[in-house]
Amino acid sequence: MSKFQAPKGVSEYFPERSRHFEFVRETLIQSARVSGYELMELPVFEDTELFARGVGESTDVVSKEMYTFEDRGGRSITLRPEGTAGVMRSVIEHNLDRGQLPVKVWYSGQFFRAERPQAGRYRQFYQVGIEAIGLNDPEIDAEVIAVAVMAFEKLGLKDYHTEITSLGDAVTRERYTKDLREYISTLALDESTIARAELNPLRLFDDKRDEIRSMMEKAPVLMDYLTPESAAHFEEVKSTLDQFGITYQVNNRMVRGLDYYTGTAFEFVHHKLGAQSGIGGGGRYDGLMRQLGGSDLSGIGFGLGVDRILLACEAEGIEVPQENSLALFIVPMGESVKGFAVLKAHQLRAHGISVDVAYGDRALKGGMKAADKSGARFALVLGDDEIASGKGELKNMQTGDSVSVTLRTLHEELLKLI
Ligand code: HAM
Repeated sequence: MSKFQAPKGVSEYFPERSRHFEFVRETLIQSARVSGYELMELPVFEDTELFARGVGESTDVVSKEMYTFEDRGGRSITLRPEGTAGVMRSVIEHNLDRGQLPVKVWYSGQFFRAERPQAGRYRQFYQVGIEAIGLNDPEIDAEVIAVAVMAFEKLGLKDYHTEITSLGDAVTRERYTKDLREYISTLALDESTIARAELNPLRLFDDKRDEIRSMMEKAPVLMDYLTPESAAHFEEVKSTLDQFGITYQVNNRMVRGLDYYTGTAFEFVHHKLGAQSGIGGGGRYDGLMRQLGGSDLSGIGFGLGVDRILLACEAEGIEVPQENSLALFIVPMGESVKGFAVLKAHQLRAHGISVDVAYGDRALKGGMKAADKSGARFALVLGDDEIASGKGELKNMQTGDSVSVTLRTLHEELLKLI
């Protein structure tokens, strides 16, 4: 066993699987880009208070799962457990909400939650997220859902479904939580559950214990309390999704794990991942920006779990295109030509051609084996003869055919071929 191991419960990717990971991540990002979202690059740690206020004290994420520590200046710092609060902080801090609305951004990177690790559930995991901030428009809700679905389709995912719901507006919430609290007060519950329910009564819907689950089955349902405006908004979201040809199931008992959600909320559930089936989720958040000290603007977004989407692709047997492979692998024959080979590789790379070299002392056989393993499309053997004549044989590794090339203009010939 090696002396050092990665910390427990982190995901990490190395070749060849990292190629698949990269392909999944880039496909998700591309879907956001073609829909008008621009990059927001955020810190991985923030003031602890941002998450406590933004994500909510009643959530598992804030109450049990944050990586919080004191920095050298005595400030309480937390590794980001999710992305939305940080985006809001940045939008407020840099006055982006005073410009053109909606502000549409995407982000990607590592997030941290001190959960019990298991397959598909990590302490450091990877998300691609988007947020559209500033307008409360049902068409934007549909767009956000469509960005995710479009990416899943591009990847070729089939074995999943989309769940949507509406959590209503402030009036809906007030009326509903009043009735829900009344219902909960009739239940025989332990102290800590009562405390949890006091912070947010909706939390009891995602309690894993059977007795609480069965008690909550008879609880009032939020969907029945939607105001006419909220109901109309939700109808419009659904009819836009219908127009897009996106299928969904309405789940009127969905509880998102974070407290800021209002209105439209959604989750993508994969069928081959066992317990950690959520490959992404999101929704609208009406009060979040104001809660964090900004203006009273609504927003909507999602977070997609790249680790789980990769697992889902693998479970569905999806083949990853070999897009990242090398164009050329150069095999130098002997010390005398090595310098030339390395310089040639350097010059070709400057022309944007991906090239690698058989380093070390290898015989022709070993060099060609390395070329084969590299996945490069072409191989070029360079010996004293080639250098003297200025010509070489470019071998197509798929067909086995060779063409004669002039070394001085190799970049031009390669650019035509790749
Ligand atoms: P979330 O539902 O907490 O939402 O996380 C989104 C996705 O991240 C999940 O569906 C899952 O795929 C992945 N994920 C979460 N925790 C883990 C973990 N421990 N291991 C592996 N994957 C995980 C949010 O984070 C919201 N910020 C999404 C959002 C953006 N809502 C509005 N805008």
